Amino acid sequence: MANRLKDRLGFESPIFAFSHCRDVVAEVTKAGGFGVLGASTFSPEQLEVELAWIDERVGERPYGVDVIIPVKYDREAEAAFGQRDLHDLIPDAHKDFMERFLADEGVPELPPDERRRVHAEIAAGRGGMTPDGARRLLEVVARHPKVRVVVSALGAPPADVVAELRARDIVIGAMCGKPKHAVRQRAAGVDFVVAQGTEAGGHTGDISTLVLVPQVIDAVENAIPVLAAGGFARGSQIAAALALGAEGVWCGTVWLGTRESELTPFEKQAYFAAEAEDAVRRRCRTGKTVRMLKSRLSEAWEAPGAPPYLDPPLQGVLFNEVTARVIRAERADLYSFPAGQVVGAMHEETSVRQVMYDMQSELADTLERLGALKL
Ligand SMILES: Cc1cc2nc3c(=O)[nH]c(=O)nc-3n(C[C@H](O)[C@H](O)[C@H](O)COP(=O)(O)O)c2cc1C
Repeated sequence: MANRLKDRLGFESPIFAFSHCRDVVAEVTKAGGFGVLGASTFSPEQLEVELAWIDERVGERPYGVDVIIPVKYDREAEAAFGQRDLHDLIPDAHKDFMERFLADEGVPELPPDERRRVHAEIAAGRGGMTPDGARRLLEVVARHPKVRVVVSALGAPPADVVAELRARDIVIGAMCGKPKHAVRQRAAGVDFVVAQGTEAGGHTGDISTLVLVPQVIDAVENAIPVLAAGGFARGSQIAAALALGAEGVWCGTVWLGTRESELTPFEKQAYFAAEAEDAVRRRCRTGKTVRMLKSRLSEAWEAPGAPPYLDPPLQGVLFNEVTARVIRAERADLYSFPAGQVVGAMHEETSVRQVMYDMQSELADTLERLGALKL
């Protein structure tokens, strides 16, 4: 079967791994898949460190970077980045709401030093969740030629970004949750789209992967490759994606339970305890709809009397500082981090190599089984 992305990028296995963790990106890439680093939470300085680290470990293999370029965002916060503390742009009502909630729940403050560090890291990282923030991150990417793929989430990349990436022969992708997004993204000049179904962790729409993928392939007239995302954690699921016409899969949640993942043991335990139905769609993390672990914190934002959600990046600046306190206090009942429905099948720590091996061997078995079917 032809695989246009494989021909262009030279990976062995059509398994794309989205992760904010450099160890996962490097390990997947070394294991023959294609690692993509989620860059939106890094400052440009930190991204430089992460990419240099990956460069050193992947040999000659290419890898990718994902940036968030939202269509709707807080323009004042975008302009204020680097000039003002983004926390100052968060309305008092929102800060008071979270302070009251955490006090009622008995979650302590962070120690002052840690609070200062977390505060600065979050403002610098979350500030990247605007078009100009993404441009700053892509300037760093330009210094790392092993990055052969750049993917934009939450919107088609703007024309200047497409032109710049194209001039550097970077393969451009975009995340989409509806066929009409894919049409817009193709018109914007992307080389491939990732059709992400509602079951996925992270920002997600309403349509399931099974329904979305063939609709997206039709919408782009099969002129550009489509990857399938949302609900992929084992080989039989990958076989289903290939059957739908996808040229590979793009997974996020499955890597969170690996020993390479950056999550703390407390956080991993929260994932291993969760069922598929605990991965719900809420807006409290970024202001946009994110599938995440349900908790008393996520539900507090849905209750009557909660303030309205802020646009990116401000909701994320507020929520991430709260999350840092929740993690330090190890309060599983308040922990809400992005997770797809496949979280219900993750029960113990594994490794990237093991996940890659299991996926590929079950894919081979499934294809063999299907080949022998007499219908
Ligand atoms: C913890 C986490 C963070 C995510 N952050 C982003 C992001 O910053 N940019 C993005 O394009 N997708 C993000 N996603 C979505 C993934 O790219 C991917 O599409 C999704 O995880 C696929 O579905 P799955 O969770 O069922 O594997 C995130 C997913 C998770 C689980």
